[in-house]
Amino acid sequence: MAESANPMEAIVALCKRRGFVFQSSEIYGGLNGFFDYGPLGAELKKNIRDCWWSDMVRRRDDIVGIESSIIMHPKVWEASGHVAGFTDPLVDCRASKQRFRADQLFFSKVVVDGRTAGYVSALESDRTAEDLQERAEAFKRRKAIQGKLEPVQPRDMTEAEAGEIELIPSPATGEPGSLTPPRAFNMMFETNVGALRDASSVAYLRPETAQGMFADFKNVVDTGRVKLPFGIAQIGKSFRNEITPRNFIFRSREFEQMEMEYFIHPDADWLSCHEEWLRWCQDWLKSIGLPGDAISLFEHPKEKLAFYSRRTVDIMFRYPFGVQELWGIAARSDYDLRQHAKFSGKPQEIFDEATKSKVVPHVIEPAVGVDRIFLAVLCAGYAEEDVTDEKGNVEKRTVLRLSPRIAPVKVAVLPLLKNKPELVARAGELYRRLKRRHAVFYDEGGAIGRRYRRQDEIGTPWCVTIDFETIEKDGSFTLRERDSMQQRRIGEAELFALLDEKAC
Ligand code: GAP
Repeated sequence: MAESANPMEAIVALCKRRGFVFQSSEIYGGLNGFFDYGPLGAELKKNIRDCWWSDMVRRRDDIVGIESSIIMHPKVWEASGHVAGFTDPLVDCRASKQRFRADQLFFSKVVVDGRTAGYVSALESDRTAEDLQERAEAFKRRKAIQGKLEPVQPRDMTEAEAGEIELIPSPATGEPGSLTPPRAFNMMFETNVGALRDASSVAYLRPETAQGMFADFKNVVDTGRVKLPFGIAQIGKSFRNEITPRNFIFRSREFEQMEMEYFIHPDADWLSCHEEWLRWCQDWLKSIGLPGDAISLFEHPKEKLAFYSRRTVDIMFRYPFGVQELWGIAARSDYDLRQHAKFSGKPQEIFDEATKSKVVPHVIEPAVGVDRIFLAVLCAGYAEEDVTDEKGNVEKRTVLRLSPRIAPVKVAVLPLLKNKPELVARAGELYRRLKRRHAVFYDEGGAIGRRYRRQDEIGTPWCVTIDFETIEKDGSFTLRERDSMQQRRIGEAELFALLDEKAC
């Protein structure tokens, strides 16, 4: 993890400086909750997607992939429950016109000597309780109240009683009286399909890719390639009109999901299957370089489960802004297929050879956001360290320790000197050959140490330098390793073998 004073600021700055992530429509001031991926970001994101697709779909016999449309028949979202229930509780501040998610806006009574003297509020953070306590102390000082201040008791706005709302200060103005009671806000983006703009043409940008798999369940089954248990996977964009997009690309309004619906027999041992997927997902995260000690599990309490869920466990990641959800693994029962059968009038069943009967399968669903993995690998890999060069000078190096599987550039090819045509020619030749199979970067500008630093900062695992030994001796190159900064000689065949083994 980053050693910088403010790791998120350092990571956001690196993303902009080196072309990983930009604000969307930046020349017009940006659009809150939307992001663009630059040349290196697009490569990194594609590598994350490719690794997932190859491990989840191609290398398995029991999972197939699809690509469904982003805009689907509006009935899909009625059946899934999103039209009625895909809401977040929203609180408006009438004075500032700002909006807050009620479950992220915390407040507490200020209690002095057992009597309520007023209220304080704070937006959710790593230190919500401390913020509230400091505000309560400041409140007591400002009002010159004598007596003993009791510790704050944080509650969020969904727990506020009707009479309290008027008394809670808005985090925007610091004054009470402007907050509205929480109301349900549907997060689906609406659009209209066709030339008419009326109620009959309303459609939605999908808020999850999962419904594409359910809506296509019969099509996949009827193509005859699958039998229980089997999965349908998809990678694609989803859209949610989040009330408070935040933490860079962690919670945005347009994002990408990688979801898989694993269909099992209704009598199968769903709990073991759920456990298996939980393990698979954690192993996969480690396989792309996330450290095990930054990953933890959160079991959703039974009383807070969605009504159709039997069990949901989130894989959490320790981001610089706190431990947050990365990957949700839900046991969704047969809810979705039954709902689609009901709303479409078409049975959503499969013939099970083993029991010679038609069944409506149950589902285990691992659902993860590509952007959240992207941010996690940057946070885990980013470091600033002091290194000593050949002349004994100590300097700072910024390094991104990305797994070779997902690094945007796998290897940089560097001729030792750019004014030696024989070195440049050999480097160009190697670069062109490597380029056919791998993402390679060619750089001949500046001192070799500086060129290594530039590659460290974008996470390139290896640099090869073409030097005089290459030309005059055995054709081997200097291979410099990003993490250890160690150098050794390597031949061309060995270099290709290394890349084939580690970078795919
Ligand atoms: N089909 C189930 C589903 O969509 P979810 O927990 O709402 O479940 C799954 O979303 C994953 O999608 C999350 O664990 C997270 O990684 C990602 N995700 C959800 N909302 C997001 C947002 N606003 N921005 C970025 N990623 C998001």
